[in-house]
Amino acid sequence: MKKSTHNSHCTCWNCPAINLAGKVDFRACGQTVEKFGIDGTGAQIMAECKRRPELGLFDPTAITFKECAEWQLTPCGYLLKDMRIMILGIDGYLGWPLALWLGKLGCKVSGVDNYSRRDWVKERGAHTIVPIARMTERLHAAKEVLGIDINFREMDILNRNRLKEFIDEVKPEAIVHYAECPSAPYSMIDFEHAKSVQSNNVIGTLATLFSIHEVVPETSLIKLGTMGEYGMPLTGRPLFEGFFPADAVLKWEGREWSMGGELTPRDPVSFYHVSKVQDTFNVYEACKYWWLRSYDVMQGVIYGVHTDHVAADPRLRTRFDIDECFGTIINRFVAQAVIGFPLTLYGAGEQIRGFISLEDAMQCITRLIAKPPEPGQYSVVNQMSGYCNLRKLAETVAKVGKEEFNIDVKIQRVENPRVESERHPFEPIFNKLPDEFGFQQNENLEQEIRKMFALLMQPHIKSRIEEKKHLILPRTWWSGVKKEVEQIELIENAADRDKREHIHVASTEVNDE
Ligand SMILES: NC(=O)c1ccc[n+]([C@@H]2O[C@H](COP(=O)([O-])OP(=O)(O)OC[C@H]3O[C@@H](n4cnc5c(N)ncnc54)[C@H](O)[C@@H]3O)[C@@H](O)[C@H]2O)c1
Repeated sequence: MKKSTHNSHCTCWNCPAINLAGKVDFRACGQTVEKFGIDGTGAQIMAECKRRPELGLFDPTAITFKECAEWQLTPCGYLLKDMRIMILGIDGYLGWPLALWLGKLGCKVSGVDNYSRRDWVKERGAHTIVPIARMTERLHAAKEVLGIDINFREMDILNRNRLKEFIDEVKPEAIVHYAECPSAPYSMIDFEHAKSVQSNNVIGTLATLFSIHEVVPETSLIKLGTMGEYGMPLTGRPLFEGFFPADAVLKWEGREWSMGGELTPRDPVSFYHVSKVQDTFNVYEACKYWWLRSYDVMQGVIYGVHTDHVAADPRLRTRFDIDECFGTIINRFVAQAVIGFPLTLYGAGEQIRGFISLEDAMQCITRLIAKPPEPGQYSVVNQMSGYCNLRKLAETVAKVGKEEFNIDVKIQRVENPRVESERHPFEPIFNKLPDEFGFQQNENLEQEIRKMFALLMQPHIKSRIEEKKHLILPRTWWSGVKKEVEQIELIENAADRDKREHIHVASTEVNDE
């Protein structure tokens, strides 16, 4: 990974280790950074460093991360020495690899989880096809194999008092909030599921925001949203990073207005996505009212199951689900290919999504942690390394399966249980992570797919996929109907390039009917 100093010029103004002090009530509504001259001209706000109290009161813009002995260079930029980072949802697909990743970078990692993801998957009759250890074993292995101590507390983040107490005890300098139910189909099963997803996600985020406000207002919150919050505008309007750019203009009836700085419209695509949009507004408001600092990460679909740390010991592995509710697309495709189950495209299969590998996602989150937002700053980043039409993805999995593992992969088009456009323009803007945070993609899609095949072809994992293959085809329709989808078309030898052209033509014909 490239050594990057994307944050070397940041100053104490961004640092979670300072208390702000001065003549002004800087947490009151409506006060702006510019008003108080924080650009270096006669600042009325002063800082006190919690790590270096001997500095007394000083101008928060005077010391850069590069100059401060508390910030040390790592492959993801300067990081606070022994930085205290709390992961909400630490037992999850992303939370666990992040804990190991940050621990290896020298951070003091703490985390909470109530194991609800394990329960949801069990409720659907499924299991993670890559076996995962219980938390006690995970913690033990992290210490034994990687030398990392993780401060874990089993807890539901909706239990506000317990969450606040733990935050107060740890005083995290950054909080990564993964602790939500991540499934669109799960939220569409029925009223009870929609209710539980929305209350878990929305109230959990509110509990987090109030706890931060009351206990550690200087911490930065890295909150996980999803690209699905934006929907897919059929006008082809680019999916900006949360806000319209400065030169965007609205024209109406011969008049025009600048849209610069306004939140872009959200058009969520399931009750789960609605919970994420609600979170977006709650986090945005909290930053405005209380000068909290947050990056809201509109994350593309994650694929892969590899980081060096999770691969270091079977007890350190992260989960890998393939059922209709909790399996994500590329992971599911590889698992399907391994057991000869035709890869499932919904409807035309021309939907386009943004993607990023597990390892690249870890890098992005670390880079965000390393460059905390300013007090009061709410910023959105679109986190993906590329985007692709789902049919192409299926063909790529088929190609790797054939070329490297001699598997003849089939693709099937099935009825689409979702309400979504199957052909749509898609222009996501995802410049901030590379341009402002030094993110560089390390894993390409084919490499990661190869690694997944190698892991999933192991006999004990292959048999765990076989055991649950009846849970792969969707049964949850957005309409409320409960029935397995039917096949529309079967495409054999999907890895064959000539046939691939044929696939495209065939699907067009089917859809023109
Ligand atoms: N995986 C993806 O492709 C993807 C894509 C976009 C966004 N996201 C978002 O990223 C985050 C993490 O995703 P993931 O794939 O790791 O999901 P996950 O379900 O594996 O992880 C979430 C963890 O949070 C825990 N949790 C949920 N509610 C909780 C509560 N009330 N109290 C305590 N713990 C709770 C779960 O038990 C689980 O371990 C989610 O917010 C998800 O919506 C994921």
